[in-house]
Amino acid sequence: MVTAFTPPEATTLRPGIKAPVKETLLTPRFYTTDFEAIANMVLDLQDEEIAAALEELRADYNRHHFVRDENFDSAIDHLDKKTRAAFIDFLERSCTSEFSGFLLFKELSRKLKGRSPVLAEAFGLLARDEARHAGFINKAMVDFGLSLDLGYLTKQRTYTFFPPEWVIYSVYLSEKIGYWRYILVFRHLEQHPEHNLYPLFNYFENWCQDENRHGDFFKALLRSQPKMWDTWQGRLWGRFFLLTVFATHTMTVFERADFYEALGMDAKQYNIDVIRNTNTTTARAFAEIMDTDNPKFFELLEDCSQANEKLAEITLGDRPYLVKLLLKIPQIATIIWSLLRLYFLKPIDAEALRSEVH
Ligand SMILES: [Fe+2]
Ligand SMILES: [Fe+2]
Repeated sequence: MVTAFTPPEATTLRPGIKAPVKETLLTPRFYTTDFEAIANMVLDLQDEEIAAALEELRADYNRHHFVRDENFDSAIDHLDKKTRAAFIDFLERSCTSEFSGFLLFKELSRKLKGRSPVLAEAFGLLARDEARHAGFINKAMVDFGLSLDLGYLTKQRTYTFFPPEWVIYSVYLSEKIGYWRYILVFRHLEQHPEHNLYPLFNYFENWCQDENRHGDFFKALLRSQPKMWDTWQGRLWGRFFLLTVFATHTMTVFERADFYEALGMDAKQYNIDVIRNTNTTTARAFAEIMDTDNPKFFELLEDCSQANEKLAEITLGDRPYLVKLLLKIPQIATIIWSLLRLYFLKPIDAEALRSEVH
């Protein structure tokens, strides 16, 4: 059973400009990295794949895609208050995460200019796509009477430092999980047009192909660095990032079950489908993937998510600070324990699968 967390009413920074939500472990982060190390990366092993991915980015298949049509006019008039709140929350998360990609790619492109022309161009094209995505969602927020001040967000957010390898693991995964998130919503609404409440979803089919291409570019980067998949450390890091992305996805989907229910989707099943598909896709890049068929796998992820919901309830409650802290301890322990057990579930050796296929 999925119990939804009700997003708080939107607060505004200025009239029509939404105040960003408080940063938590689950809100999309902004990243910075060691640009020098990326400029010095040797990419020879994947020269051809990187050139092919760059060609795909240059082709710019979606240059005419992100144009609003008349379907947006008064599209939200029929939405009730609860659905609107769930939509605003979804749009803000998505816009922030697209925009966070834009900032990182733009900075990479700027810093690598003159040092690594192929990467500089590729990151510039990735930034182009993410700017389009973020801008398109921000326009959708205007339909709801709000928008995000992206300039304010750029300055106000804290930036997390990730070494280049962590950036590559996590951006690869977020592009591929982004692809599956968008395409599964699109396919569901194609089957059930009566639940297609807002025209933004009509754009998801081509949109997710951008994310897929971004993922392919990062896959080539990842495979160009053997230490990221051909060493025991690479295996452990890969699994760590898989687990982090899957746990965050589960918690977010369960917290936002209202949104998926508004679209006639079962949040629990959607989470399972996104994770299974992303995990299978990842076998083309990572040395190891998770065994999602292990009966414990989704059970433990859902334990984390339930503990996370209880934590949110405790935080929102009006008990004294110390009582809240005491109540939180068992929930935090459940999350840590479940994550540890997940991490040590026997993984699937993707390298072995790959050599069987070839
Ligand atoms: Fe995007
Ligand atoms: Fe992307």
